[in-house]
Amino acid sequence: AWKDRFRKRLLAWYATHRRDLPWRQDGDPYRVWVSEVMLQQTQVETVRAYFERFMTAFPTVEHLAAADEQQVLRLWEGLGYYRRARSLHAAARRVTEEHAGVFPADLATLQTLPGIGRYTAGAIVSIAFGKRAPILEANTIRLLTRLIAYEGDPTRSAGQKRLWSLAEELLPTKNVADFNQALMELGSLVCTPTSPACPRCPVETLCEARRQGVVGKLAPTTKK
Ligand code: ADE
Repeated sequence: AWKDRFRKRLLAWYATHRRDLPWRQDGDPYRVWVSEVMLQQTQVETVRAYFERFMTAFPTVEHLAAADEQQVLRLWEGLGYYRRARSLHAAARRVTEEHAGVFPADLATLQTLPGIGRYTAGAIVSIAFGKRAPILEANTIRLLTRLIAYEGDPTRSAGQKRLWSLAEELLPTKNVADFNQALMELGSLVCTPTSPACPRCPVETLCEARRQGVVGKLAPTTKK
């Protein structure tokens, strides 16, 4: 089926196009979590330097929990959306106190932590723990909207429902960490908001928007 071809082509593309990013070195859930929170509203290239400084200051969740909030906010300066930093700090304290410093590995428990929603929980579970969980964020909303030529507003609840289901249906049974990161990578490097590079896209021939010639006409999903 087309979903099998999609998975195969996406993973093959990722194997040769993945960027070497500092949080991709290992599957440490703490590093995955911090990077995903930073990436929620900030571009990859900006996040790099902030991430490295943050990890030097707070190498583990216990270090972050032990810091005072002002210290955390100082390292966040320039990234904006300071509520993210406050939530990160509060969640680190909860992981340290309630989970003995061990990151919860399931979606439901993760989502009880401050600042961790469905997306961040899915990213941690799939990228750090290799468990099958879908993700949906700015890059993949755009990519999936185009893939099925979704004509509604992908940010409204019907659209979100449709796209979360699609993200789930596309998930392979293994390699979910690579698969989810590959989706985001393709969205950010090829299936860009304006003038996407369709001729360089590994799933061009599976893309409904491309087939219909409406890639530039679907509801704009900006952000980032
Ligand atoms: N944007 C958000 N999370 C990302 C990730 N893990 N890789 C690339 N871009 C991202």
